[in-house]
Amino acid sequence: MSTRLLFVCLGNICRSPSAENIMNHLVQQRQLGDQVVCDSAGTASYHVGSPPDRRMAAAAQDFGITLTGQARQFSPDDFDRFDWILAMDRHNYRDILALDGAKAHSHKVKMMCDYCRTHPDQEVPDPYYGGPEGFTYVIELLMDACEGFLDQVMGNATTP
Ligand code: 4NP
Repeated sequence: MSTRLLFVCLGNICRSPSAENIMNHLVQQRQLGDQVVCDSAGTASYHVGSPPDRRMAAAAQDFGITLTGQARQFSPDDFDRFDWILAMDRHNYRDILALDGAKAHSHKVKMMCDYCRTHPDQEVPDPYYGGPEGFTYVIELLMDACEGFLDQVMGNATTP
């Protein structure tokens, strides 16, 4: 049975689609394709239906990663559909937990940066209103966190 991962940010056009596509890239590299299923969502609805941000896609392409996907909003059904829900920042984390009224799924919700090994960041910064270096930094940070997640989690237990 595969482990289902959902990456969540605000708009689902920058950070979480990057995390999803980076994780898929690493999963292919490690030949774990049948063991991990990834998706992403936003806590907000502003960009529902949109493809990943052009600036984010350009930064990912520099690392050999093509961003695909169409933004959707996080839904409470996602608590049942995924094993791990990985929030990019504290706002996302809080907004996700606020939808888990009965607190039945809180154990599945984690901060993405908890899995970083070389970056000290606690959150994935929102690059939307900044320059190109912010987008590149998001990719570097997510590479670190995704590799750390695979080593820590997929090497051991597959449920939170
Ligand atoms: P994301 O970035 O949450 O990483 O997808 C953002 C996308 C859109 C906005 C903010 C952040 N916005 O304000 O429209």
